[in-house]
Amino acid sequence: MKVTLSVIKADIGGFPGHSSMHPALMEIARQELGKQKGKLLIDFKVLHCGDDLELIMTHTKGVDNKLIHKLAWDVFVKGTAEAKKLKLYGAGQDLLKDTFSGNVKGMGPGVAEMEFEERKSEPVMIFMADKTEPGAWNYALYKMFADPFSTAGLVIDPNMHDGFTFEVHDLFEHKKVLLKCPEEIYDLLAFIGQPARYVVKHVFRNSDKMIAASTSTQRLSLLAGRYVGKDDPVMIVRAQSGLPAVGEVLEPFSFPYTVAGWMRGSHHGPFMPVGFDQATPSRFDGPPRVICAGFQLSGGVLEGPCDMLKDVSFDRARKMANEIADYLRRHGPFEPHRLSADEMEYTTLPGVIKKLEKRFRKI
Ligand code: F6R
Ligand code: MG
Ligand code: MG
Repeated sequence: MKVTLSVIKADIGGFPGHSSMHPALMEIARQELGKQKGKLLIDFKVLHCGDDLELIMTHTKGVDNKLIHKLAWDVFVKGTAEAKKLKLYGAGQDLLKDTFSGNVKGMGPGVAEMEFEERKSEPVMIFMADKTEPGAWNYALYKMFADPFSTAGLVIDPNMHDGFTFEVHDLFEHKKVLLKCPEEIYDLLAFIGQPARYVVKHVFRNSDKMIAASTSTQRLSLLAGRYVGKDDPVMIVRAQSGLPAVGEVLEPFSFPYTVAGWMRGSHHGPFMPVGFDQATPSRFDGPPRVICAGFQLSGGVLEGPCDMLKDVSFDRARKMANEIADYLRRHGPFEPHRLSADEMEYTTLPGVIKKLEKRFRKI
């Protein structure tokens, strides 16, 4: 049986500020999706990462399905009404359009989906982030699927030895390219080392073209033409049996690498792995966070979630992240803590330049 796994997320109101999620919104999502269990959906789970509501759904309708996207959209609309009633912060902020037009892509919510034949056993890891951008997955995906110093199986497991192909999207020019690794890792890195623009969308196994990973690549500011909050991406990764083991999928997050986002979407900060109960970015609206929900699929039923990054083996990464946060915060408004001007999502700079225009003298 072919199963589709759809993860659709949106920030429809924060509680309080942009830090976390009101339980009432989670309850609405559970109720609405619950009405479709056994009908449109095989199964579902509702989680949150910071102020983002995460709908994890399984079904047999394929990716980009209108009915599934409409279901998620309707949940976000209903949740927004409640968020407005409770005067939650930024109620409905990610719903950029008034009416649904067939697909939530381009309408604000983030989407990661994949369709596959369920294997004899199907472990999947679903990553959810807050206070960062889609390119935040680039580093981790490279480590998982192309770096033998992180994923031992690339060397040891004959079923992975042929490597993986990365589908990279250029979010500015709306173009994509397939890069086959290990042959083209230098070319791949030339692009994905610029995560604000080039984002890994899918990863496929070379030996049989099987899909291994899928991410959400929406950039709200590019869609809306103005700052409307960070994109706070999601990612699905399949694991084991000729794919990176669960532990190899998680290993990249033992290093809290730098991502863009944090306060006002305008600062670099450490990407901190946390358990579900710590997914509440509070210090300086951050630091940026990532959680991982582990599942075993069984005929599309989501056995789980297991709180994968809560483990003590990530304590050191959290400690390091907090030290990096201290170090970066002391830079205040100086780069590289503050993003460079062209990367800033919203800034007073153009206003300041205009105000002082007449006072500038030639040198
Ligand atoms: C970051 C984010 C927050 C807000 C910040 C200011 O993605 O959403 O850091 O940018 O809290 O929000 P406003 O301008 O609404 O007061
Ligand atoms: Mg928000
Ligand atoms: Mg958010």
